[in-house]
Amino acid sequence: MKLVFLGPPGAGKGTIATRAKEFYSIPHISTGDLFRHNIKNETELGKQVKAILAAGDLVPDSITIAMVEDRFKDDDAKGGFILDGFPRTIAQAEALEQMADLDAVVNFVLDKERIVKRLSGRRMCKSTGRIYHIEYDPPKTDGIDDETGEPLIQRDDDKEDAIMNRLDVYDAQTAPLIEYYRGKGLLVDIDASKSPKEVFESVKKALAKK
Ligand code: AP5
Repeated sequence: MKLVFLGPPGAGKGTIATRAKEFYSIPHISTGDLFRHNIKNETELGKQVKAILAAGDLVPDSITIAMVEDRFKDDDAKGGFILDGFPRTIAQAEALEQMADLDAVVNFVLDKERIVKRLSGRRMCKSTGRIYHIEYDPPKTDGIDDETGEPLIQRDDDKEDAIMNRLDVYDAQTAPLIEYYRGKGLLVDIDASKSPKEVFESVKKALAKK
């Protein structure tokens, strides 16, 4: 299965991808996670993109496309994948068309009020990337990762100014992909306001028809 998870920041793409990758036995390729991994390891790419991510702007297409092309060379991506957060522009979508034939594009639909609540309450473990929410999915001990015992962090781009900028960037540059993929007959709209379990059930049901 070759899938794209599309939707505004905080809609739950990463949360559902964690379940879907197990269910479909395909890798979860998140461009946001790849950039954060490079930032953490202080690679050249990481240094180049650190300030862009913190502000909530988009990394230039040429850099992002090259990174995905590189990731597709790994054996685990040959049989299928979930692309989470890519493509985010029409230029990226056109580049992806040259790389793979998609089975479906899952569009996670969520209103702005819920988006802001989800992002501002998100916490994560820096070393494992595991995601929590202070209200909807809290760790067993406040502020501490269940597995590693490390303190949880808030992403720089989950602070208020960056959240607002990410929403504007999404509306201007990524939302046009909804009609782009609808026109190609690939789009599946999913109501992302339900619990993760219910959202994942809707995704499975919709993909079974594809
Ligand atoms: P990226 O990491 O992709 O961020 P994003 O798209 O903004 O998505 P998020 O990770 O914020 O949200 P999500 O939808 O995965 O939600 P989550 O499951 O975590 O990108 C970060 C940055 O990298 C970009 O801003 C850009 O700078 C750069 N970048 C990445 N890709 C790029 C590209 N292609 N081109 C250029 N630049 C790029 O859930 C959010 C919270 O809600 C969590 O706390 C979770 O516990 C909670 N939650 C999830 N689902 C539910 C639910 N159903 N009910 C209640 N709570 C829920």
